[in-house]
Amino acid sequence: MGFQHSQYARYPRSEIASIMKRIEEFNYLQDIDAILDKILEEARSLSNADAGSIFIAEDDRLRFGYVHNDTLFKKDEANEEIYVDFSVPIDGQSIVGYVALTGNTIVIDDAYNLSSGSPFTFNSDYDQKSGYKTRSILAVPLYTFHGRLVGVMQLINAKDECGRVIAFRKRIQDLVPLLANNAAVAIDRGIMNREMILRMVKMAELRDPTETGAHVQRVGAYSSEIYHQWAIKHKIDKHEKNRTKDLIRLAAMLHDVGKVGIPDKILKKPGKLTDSEFDTMKWHTVYGGRLFMNQTSSLDKMSLQIALNHHEKWNGKGYPGKIDDIMKPDVKLGLPRKKEDIPLSARIVSLADVFDALVSNRSYKEPWSDTRAYEAIEANAGKHFDPEIVEMFFQILPVIQAIRKKYRE
Ligand code: C2E
Ligand code: SIN
Ligand code: SIN
Ligand code: FE
Ligand code: FE
Repeated sequence: MGFQHSQYARYPRSEIASIMKRIEEFNYLQDIDAILDKILEEARSLSNADAGSIFIAEDDRLRFGYVHNDTLFKKDEANEEIYVDFSVPIDGQSIVGYVALTGNTIVIDDAYNLSSGSPFTFNSDYDQKSGYKTRSILAVPLYTFHGRLVGVMQLINAKDECGRVIAFRKRIQDLVPLLANNAAVAIDRGIMNREMILRMVKMAELRDPTETGAHVQRVGAYSSEIYHQWAIKHKIDKHEKNRTKDLIRLAAMLHDVGKVGIPDKILKKPGKLTDSEFDTMKWHTVYGGRLFMNQTSSLDKMSLQIALNHHEKWNGKGYPGKIDDIMKPDVKLGLPRKKEDIPLSARIVSLADVFDALVSNRSYKEPWSDTRAYEAIEANAGKHFDPEIVEMFFQILPVIQAIRKKYRE
């Protein structure tokens, strides 16, 4: 492990420097999905691989984490396949299971012609379902520098300059593992960030049982995918798009942490709130904003914008409105924001949160059918919601549904 290893000595420094630069990029991302996406992007670009996936080690299983496939998926579009939820055992049967079990890198030139002594088998189910044709495979274990297995990365179908599928070259077999330690550390960090935030949400959940881990995972994922669609439409530069998508994924999860400051009597009321109770409820936006006032990171900044503004409405009939200094103890709610005066992130989370609230159970309401919720959202385009965000939402319904399936209560 490490760059001193003699096996790398024959590669030019420029090549090593380019790998260092790829690795560096991992550090700018916070959320596990953004990190997995970036790792696959860099590993595939290094190896010119058509497809790839990452599995995360969880006890004695590998949980599917992320997938790229240039042949099957439209480039740069929202993609429901990344929300598929399955795991495989860590054993000698499957390719990724074998890599996790033994810690060996595996190189396969033709998946449909494994040598007769091969301990593992290639599972062609995915090819059969999708019509994809897997040929060459490079599967590497992802170990931290301390030697703990975090997951397995599988690269599929290396291509030559003309786009023909070829075997993974020796040079690539040596270079890809250079990414692996750093990828493992980044993955660890991404998982920890989600878990830290889920822990914060749990504190709010003790108070408000509807604000569950599953609800906030859904709101986070809906928000990042709606933003993705918006960013494509607005031709946002890829680097900025990836960074903002990363931040909104986590910041959206924290939209309602301010509910910790609302009395139980109101928060858990089984029926409809009185006007004065609802006025108290409105303060959860300000309480949430105050938690991120230090604004030491971009994540704090976006979390503040979302917590504070996620109940503003496009037509200017939301709350809490403009407040000069939310830290002042005697502040009053202000004049509502409207249209683009509401930060984009908050306009997005507003729709994501309301959709999820409508189709979910609440102490004060039964879950609505999807159709009824869609109709309410449609009817509120230009009223409660930014009409453009409503449009983005309806463009990615298959992804929205895949997210719901992945994060059930
Ligand atoms: P929440 O339950 O997470 O709901 C978030 C938002 O979803 C609501 O923001 C509202 O815009 C929308 N929403 C949810 N259910 C319905 C519904 O049945 N009909 C309509 N028209 N919209 C719905 P809102 O209204 O600002 O409420 C913020 C929070 O205040 C809610 O978060 C909930 O915790 C609380 N709340 C609101 N109304 C009631 C109520 O009648 N009873 C109780 N116990 N809590 C309420
Ligand atoms: C899969 O389930 O498609 C991955 C298992 C394997 O690598 O054979
Ligand atoms: C809303 O967006 O205000 C909720 C949907 C509805 O009640 O029609
Ligand atoms: Fe809220
Ligand atoms: Fe919520």
